[in-house]
Amino acid sequence: MSLKINEVFGEIANVLTDEQKQRGVLIHAFQKIQEEHNYLPQEELDKLAVELNVPMSFVFSTATFYKQFYFTPRGKRIVRICTGTACHVRGADKVLHSVEDEFNIKEGETTEDLSMTLETVGCIGCCGLAPVATVNEDIVGEIDNTKLDMMMDKIKRDEDINLDDDDE
Ligand code: FES
Repeated sequence: MSLKINEVFGEIANVLTDEQKQRGVLIHAFQKIQEEHNYLPQEELDKLAVELNVPMSFVFSTATFYKQFYFTPRGKRIVRICTGTACHVRGADKVLHSVEDEFNIKEGETTEDLSMTLETVGCIGCCGLAPVATVNEDIVGEIDNTKLDMMMDKIKRDEDINLDDDDE
């Protein structure tokens, strides 16, 4: 990975401190690495520290500051169960526990085969569709038993999550 400060910042580089530039370059690099690996492997962080000539502690403190970066492998499917108020009232716990039981993982964990990571999230802004989950970019709303089974089945089969299309 080539890290050119001017390519990352353009003219704004003139008003940034060296540390701000380094952090900016790191964040840009983290995003690229995570795009490729789905998380930040230690060996990639080691390479970054060498390439930028900064201490590993600086790399690590920058990465850990942001919730968007992960340090362990993540699943191909990221399943997020909304546990915001509306979803909680309409059965989010049941959805969460069903997925946990079905895939034998707890919230925050990834299946051994790396097919899925299970997370919870606060309100995602679709309260009218509660209870809601997302599977990568797809939103699954009004989750009842049937939809829940279909969603889990599709995750297991590695199929697209088009549950609303299936309803038609
Ligand atoms: S509380 Fe779940 S979408 Fe708003």
